Amino acid sequence: MTTKLLILGGTTEASALARLVAAEGIDAVFSYAGRVAAPKSQPLPTRVGGFGSADGLARYLRENSISHVVDATHPFAAQMSWNAYNACQAADVPLIALTRPAWQAQTGDRWRHVSDVDGAVATLAFSARRVLLALGKQNVPAFEKTPQHHYVLRLVDRPEVAPDLPHHTVVLARGPFDVAGDLALMRDHAIDVVVCKNSGGSGAEAKLAAARELNLPVIMIDRPDLPPCDTCATAEAAVDWVTHTRDT
Ligand SMILES: NC(=O)c1ccc[n+]([C@@H]2O[C@H](COP(=O)([O-])OP(=O)(O)OC[C@H]3O[C@@H](n4cnc5c(N)ncnc54)[C@H](OP(=O)(O)O)[C@@H]3O)[C@@H](O)[C@H]2O)c1
Repeated sequence: MTTKLLILGGTTEASALARLVAAEGIDAVFSYAGRVAAPKSQPLPTRVGGFGSADGLARYLRENSISHVVDATHPFAAQMSWNAYNACQAADVPLIALTRPAWQAQTGDRWRHVSDVDGAVATLAFSARRVLLALGKQNVPAFEKTPQHHYVLRLVDRPEVAPDLPHHTVVLARGPFDVAGDLALMRDHAIDVVVCKNSGGSGAEAKLAAARELNLPVIMIDRPDLPPCDTCATAEAAVDWVTHTRDT
């Protein structure tokens, strides 16, 4: 069977994988959800937009003769990961997830763990503070339930519709971030509390070191349940998996 890889992207790791796959000359397609206005260009043929749930993805796999799928989406893109798992089972296509370890609290960290975005909102039911929301734009509306705070929203694109938060500042920035920059951001905006997802990886880790240095509490949203598929931790391991399951 001819190898044709589908990479489900949207992360730094997916981009690293795309570079390696292109360098190895592996036939592949890179898929973006289409969440950001100008996604990073890839050295592979790229498609943008949803497949239409697991059924749509299974159809795409068959119609495009996909032989392998690497789910290199963000650990919080659980819907896509479950769709990939179910579609690959239905279409009998091997799947591996390229994942990164979750961040672990270190000495000096003041993390409060919550299980989802609503849990983070519930922990903000106190008097007005200045809150750094280091989350995607799709999660911002949930914080309308706690409008007393001043929110600093760090986003890749300016929201098409202004958030319905009476006090907020939008900071446009795209990672990777560094500790000096995140310290300056938190000091400049007099941040009292940070809300973030346990994304793992290095590109967004600086805010945790900055919060530690400033002794700020962090409301840490723990990872959602992900499907029980095989995983690998590096782009190299994913390429190795593709090449070694080439003839299955
Ligand atoms: N969630 C985060 O915090 C986060 C952070 C950084 C980057 N990202 C990236 O942003 C994208 C969207 O994340 P999300 O949390 O909104 O996903 P999600 O909730 O798991 O997925 C919602 C729907 O978006 C479509 N989709 C998601 N990823 C796709 C991809 N790579 N290619 C084609 N369609 C995709 C699928 O639509 P259909 O059902 O129509 O196929 C999926 O059912 C992902 O690529 C992810 O890697 C997410």
